[in-house]
Amino acid sequence: MRISVIGCGYLGAVHAAAMASIGHEVVGIDVDEQKISLLSAGEAPFFEPRLTDILAEGIASGRLMFTTEFAAAAGATVHFVGVGTPQIQGGYAADMTYVNAAIDALLPHLSEGDIVAGKSTVPVGTAASLEPRVSAVGATLVWNPEFLREGFAVQDTIDPDRLVAGVPAGREGGRAAQVLREVYHPSIAKGTPFIVTDYATAELVKVSANAFLATKISFINAMAEIAEVVGGDVTVLADALGYDVRIGRRFLGAGIGFGGGCLPKDIRAFSARAEELGRGESVAFLREVDEINMRRRQRAVELVVQGLGGSVYEKNVTVLGAAFKPYSDDIRDSPGLDVAVLLHGLGARVTVTDPQAIPNARRQHPQLTYVADRDEALTGADAVILVTEWDEYRRELSPEHASGLAAGRVIVDGRNGLDPAAWRAAGWTYLGMGRP
Ligand code: UDX
Repeated sequence: MRISVIGCGYLGAVHAAAMASIGHEVVGIDVDEQKISLLSAGEAPFFEPRLTDILAEGIASGRLMFTTEFAAAAGATVHFVGVGTPQIQGGYAADMTYVNAAIDALLPHLSEGDIVAGKSTVPVGTAASLEPRVSAVGATLVWNPEFLREGFAVQDTIDPDRLVAGVPAGREGGRAAQVLREVYHPSIAKGTPFIVTDYATAELVKVSANAFLATKISFINAMAEIAEVVGGDVTVLADALGYDVRIGRRFLGAGIGFGGGCLPKDIRAFSARAEELGRGESVAFLREVDEINMRRRQRAVELVVQGLGGSVYEKNVTVLGAAFKPYSDDIRDSPGLDVAVLLHGLGARVTVTDPQAIPNARRQHPQLTYVADRDEALTGADAVILVTEWDEYRRELSPEHASGLAAGRVIVDGRNGLDPAAWRAAGWTYLGMGRP
């Protein structure tokens, strides 16, 4: 099928390449010329495992191209819209500028019968408000939310847990759902559930999934706060809770909390939208979820201060990680980078290392010192804090090796990913998040 993808960021670039990899003929469109020239050369504008492979394959096969010209969308049957919906400046709502601009730019190139499939995470009610403009040119709007995780984006796009399509009522909606079934045929044939529903439900699936995940993380972080007072171990608690299949162990990782380009802004936008709908109280708990999450960053800073005897002033602190999570170079609302900035503000000499995210981090926080090589970054450290659980910090860094580099013996484990016994045995003061 001929497909256009509007917006070539984390979502759109992966979607375009993944659609080509399952056999479609795809054009990716974005207003950012630099992004388009990189993608056209088969290079990913950000770090995402497997993306360069499928980009290169797609371009070599002739089924994948990228352009800044919206006219290239003409002739495609399905037009996916995957532009960003960041938090507005000075508020919690989602900024809809890019979605509106994408629809405006796309409309003149649509033909009768085309399908416009929104993938961006939007406030519930968006599809219903855009629908008249799309149907005025004879096309059909569907909402097809995306659940991909950064770091696993290719796999999540080609092999998702589920597919959701919000369609208009009547025959038109039925036809649109059928077209999407064809687009995703390889995945549906493997048994992926395909849920067809109305616009509002489809939009809600996405925001409520992220709200649930954020709540789960903040729940265990709240338990970490309690464990800290009573001397319990939140990691053992999470293991024990996780054996209950109704609860499950995933997303019960206590630590410095969630960040990234989705969970934080999505729960805030959801709260803002619920307020607009007169149902603010229904999701009032998301405020607590957000606050618990933000408190954990402060707690990590306190642990470094405590480990260094009450002050970090003029102390060398090495921060292991900058990305909001491993296998990503994304630093949007990165809890770890926030911790680094807070420590810097307290007068510490902060050195940040990360296998992928240094260029992005340096652009946003030029005041910090960045060292690409892990061992060089550890050299002379009075205290070390793990904030992003990359394998090279969590699995591959032995306390004995770190002892040969660091000046001090304080390790703060912001992700509860290290073995406390091993670090203590090597003479380190180990401080975890919600662990004795
Ligand atoms: C998330 C959703 O998982 C995905 O479905 C949606 O499409 C976009 O938002 P992503 O932002 O890529 O994906 O990251 P995710 O893996 O969900 O992690 C989010 C944050 O939570 C990270 O900062 C991570 O470190 C943190 N986290 C995750 C925890 O603190 N504890 C956990 O147990 C799990």
